[in-house]
Amino acid sequence: MTKKDDVFNEVIKKPSDFKFGATVANAFDDMVERSVPYYNEIQRMIIEQVCEFAVPDTNVYDLGCSTGTTFLNLDPLVDERIRFVGVDDSKDMLQKCTQKLKEAKLKRPYELKNADLHQDFVIENASAVVLCLTLQFVRPIYREKLLRRIYEGLNPGGVLVISEKILAEDSLFNRNFIKYYYDYKRRNQYSELEISQKREALENVLIPYKLSENIKMLMEAGFGHTEVFFKWYNFSGFIAIKN
Ligand SMILES: C[S@@+](CC[C@H](N)C(=O)[O-])C[C@H]1O[C@@H](n2cnc3c(N)ncnc32)[C@H](O)[C@@H]1O
Repeated sequence: MTKKDDVFNEVIKKPSDFKFGATVANAFDDMVERSVPYYNEIQRMIIEQVCEFAVPDTNVYDLGCSTGTTFLNLDPLVDERIRFVGVDDSKDMLQKCTQKLKEAKLKRPYELKNADLHQDFVIENASAVVLCLTLQFVRPIYREKLLRRIYEGLNPGGVLVISEKILAEDSLFNRNFIKYYYDYKRRNQYSELEISQKREALENVLIPYKLSENIKMLMEAGFGHTEVFFKWYNFSGFIAIKN
């Protein structure tokens, strides 16, 4: 059972950086649905596009797989010879993910790896890689390297599907978009205290880039075709193909 997200509901006396520990893992599914505009639709669009590119006898990676939502949504729709590989550095998230995938009785081969995206880990024989709200947590100096590693691990014709919080290209719009985003959170029953404490906790941890900076990074990593498939103020989805 997912707990209601009340992680930032009480006054936090000693503020610290946001962590994907047990408290967040237990409330994560509620948190992501109430904090990310159109999260379910973004998931649906990611899945729809992965289905187009996933090929039997290859791997589909979900980097920063959290509680396994992407794989649970994808499982009924793709060939059982496609292997799922989930990667996350949070043991608490992977525990939830393991439990949910077990309950769903997946018939395909799958593996959940407790690994840090800042370190080297193997990406191989991939027809699709998903980074749903995860690249924003990778420290900026490691992002290009990670995208190059994904590019190298993808088979020709393979796809990388990304969803990210972003900065607007223009700082005036950026201020407005953030204001509209906090209004969205208020509409989803987050209090002023919850909004401000979470903002502080995420400040040094979630570092958004502009959409143009993300696309440039993908091109520099070697990707040929890129396209934006989703945008809502400071949230976006974009896709890249390895030629
Ligand atoms: C916002 S969540 C991703 C949500 C998930 N992909 C979904 O669609 O519901 C970010 C995830 O990335 C993981 N993460 C953050 N930094 C990481 C790193 N350096 N290495 C591995 N996983 C990381 C976190 O533990 C967390 O589970």
